Amino acid sequence: MIRRATIAGTGSALPPRRVTNEELAQTVDTSDEWIVERTGIRARHIAGDGETTATLATEAARKALAAAGMAATDIDLIVLATATPDQTFPATATKVQDALGIRDCVAFDVAAVCSGFLYALSVAESMIRGGGSTNALVIGAETFSRILDWEDRATCVLFGDGAGAVVLTPEEGDGGNQDRGVLSTALHADGRHNQLLYVDGGPSTTGTVGKLRMKGPEVFRHAVVNLAAVLEEALTKTGLKVADVDWIVPHQANRRILDATARKLGLAPERVVITVDEHANTSAASVPLALDVAVRDGRIKRGDIVVLEAMGGGFTWGAAVVRY
Ligand code: UT7
Repeated sequence: MIRRATIAGTGSALPPRRVTNEELAQTVDTSDEWIVERTGIRARHIAGDGETTATLATEAARKALAAAGMAATDIDLIVLATATPDQTFPATATKVQDALGIRDCVAFDVAAVCSGFLYALSVAESMIRGGGSTNALVIGAETFSRILDWEDRATCVLFGDGAGAVVLTPEEGDGGNQDRGVLSTALHADGRHNQLLYVDGGPSTTGTVGKLRMKGPEVFRHAVVNLAAVLEEALTKTGLKVADVDWIVPHQANRRILDATARKLGLAPERVVITVDEHANTSAASVPLALDVAVRDGRIKRGDIVVLEAMGGGFTWGAAVVRY
């Protein structure tokens, strides 16, 4: 027997303010046609006054707890993935803990940028499988609008704000791929590429927050290769094949990356959950946000094999195979 971490509930949050490509084109030298053709993005949500990574994360967490039918006080672990914390410290996870009224639990942030949710899920799953934790909130939350250079049209049109969360809870399984829960994870990092996607500031270097910088076409090339490889690696660990996959919930960076990865794997495009059109790239929030959308609209059902994957700054990349 093995202790599996199963997904008991999902939740998400978006700032109410939706900004279309046309609206952006009023202040940035761009067009709806260029953005849609190159990325598939039509709109993004942007945080307003009083909305922060912690407030979005808390809203997503509350919805995930409600979906799981659990109280905040049932939670003994919060792992929050973000590259845009409310403050350098304390961890945004502790602000979520406080907002939820949890008096004692383990709470920390994970920084793996767009792969952050995969890293956070893997850490929480290990802690549950090892018996050290019971019920975990795993959250991806970002306010990338606050680190964008709004003069740089090559990056500012690509990102949005939001949060997604899952509640993990243990369940006994027999160790095979018929179990429910997280069946495998695969994580990677290659720091040689840390100048292709980065923020040009930080507490220990410039003493400033900095702005996002990206060599987009080079990131694109690595993304398709790495994502297809890590997805196959995570599937191989479970003994499942691409044909067994009901849904892929990928990191939502660019519609063309999603299509190219699906083609490379021989996966039917209708099996790919796509939210990049409405959310743009929300970094660590994008996978749990897309997961919540597809769970709530009834596409992802109990028992389905769902593969999550992401790649981001570092580079970091990862995948997880889950029986929902
Ligand atoms: O989340 C982490 C992972 N991130 C990613 O996966 C992002 C990966 N990269 C991409 O998605 C794409 O590379 C981008 C969407 C960032 C860029 O698309 P691209 O097809 O690679 O375009 P490009 O950067 O090669 O630029 C093509 C042209 C350039 O003009 P010239 O030099 O050909 O005259 C750019 O100046 O498009 C121009 N351009 C724009 N035009 C209108 C760049 N940004 C814009 C814009 N509006 N917003």
